[in-house]
Amino acid sequence: MSRIELVNLRKEYGNVVAVNSMDLTIEDGEFIVFVGPSGCGKTTTLRMIAGFEDPTAGDIRINGEVVNEKEPGDRDLGMVFQSHALFPHKNVADNIAFGLRMKKVPKDEQARKVQEVSELVRITHLLGKMPAQCSGGESQRIALARTLVTEPSNFLLDEPLSSLDAKLRRELRAECDRLHDELQKTFVYVTHDQEEAMTLADRIVVMNQGKIVQMGSPMEIYSNPVSYFVADFFGNPAMNLVEGEFVAGANGLEFHSSQFNIPLPGKFKDATPGKGSLGIRPENVTIGETGGGASINSEIELVEPLGKDTLLYFGTDADRPFVAVVEGTQEVKRHANVDVGFPDDAIFLFDANGDRIR
Ligand SMILES: Nc1ncnc2c1ncn2[C@@H]1O[C@H](COP(=O)(O)OP(=O)(O)OP(=O)(O)O)[C@@H](O)[C@H]1O
Ligand SMILES: [Mg+2]
Repeated sequence: MSRIELVNLRKEYGNVVAVNSMDLTIEDGEFIVFVGPSGCGKTTTLRMIAGFEDPTAGDIRINGEVVNEKEPGDRDLGMVFQSHALFPHKNVADNIAFGLRMKKVPKDEQARKVQEVSELVRITHLLGKMPAQCSGGESQRIALARTLVTEPSNFLLDEPLSSLDAKLRRELRAECDRLHDELQKTFVYVTHDQEEAMTLADRIVVMNQGKIVQMGSPMEIYSNPVSYFVADFFGNPAMNLVEGEFVAGANGLEFHSSQFNIPLPGKFKDATPGKGSLGIRPENVTIGETGGGASINSEIELVEPLGKDTLLYFGTDADRPFVAVVEGTQEVKRHANVDVGFPDDAIFLFDANGDRIR
């Protein structure tokens, strides 16, 4: 059993508020991902949980017990950092066994555990090598093994894959997922990569400027963002977000922008006129068919075939182009004029502060 609670957690460095009133309960066995832009406080939060930073205010509880005063080594946590400093003069097996040696685990048990954990992360063939003879991905696995071998109840991982190339990242990402499945331990994982967050998390904690801005399952966050910031952060290609104005028209509220004007669905009839923005995900935009909502006729300015999907670009002069995704098999021609549809239930509105209008 292991449950981590952050209660009104705060960290200041001089005038910088790195973490601001964080409240969060991480359940036993949960895979939690902290995600957010650089400097939003992810590492600081993780380091406070681990005991490497003292909170300015608030509590960290593990299984109900306040651990603020406990040394890192007494918190039953395993931490994997982005820079996986291995001991250069010890071979891989000795690197992995290090934590066990510190705990004075008997030699034969050390050897058995190192073997076991190396099989788990698939590095048995590396055990006799020196760290300098290992690739980045291999070193990353070794660092993971070194933490796994001490059998902590909770794993704290700070951007453990960020130094790897895209293919290796995907491979090791799947590995992390498998490990979590197998070990059934609590994982707290930090990344600024929205895709990594979406694929790994049971629950995503989105942070911005030291605060939690939204928590939820990946699908909740994706389909129900609370703000412009969250809507913009998740999804590739990103949500189309068009700045403009909500205007009271003869038949209800309308959205006016430099790119297009459309009537808004009836459910927004009580929204306050004024500045704001409209969002729609590229995969929800309809092309050449009426999706049961507003539509405009527009010229396809750019066609980007990706194989399975094709991206269509409109309004490329604007700050951000408007993108639609269609199936790769669909016949589309650059410069053709097509009906671009905005299905009612795919439209998101955000007020001038970036808060969602429902
Ligand atoms: N030791 C420190 N002294 C002073 N300021 C710090 C210190 N550590 C972090 N900060 C500041 O606290 C804020 C949060 O930093 P943190 O490292 O937690 O961000 P992060 O979300 O992990 O970002 P990244 O994605 O770049 O790793 C930043 O403004 C940073 O400059
Ligand atoms: Mg960080």
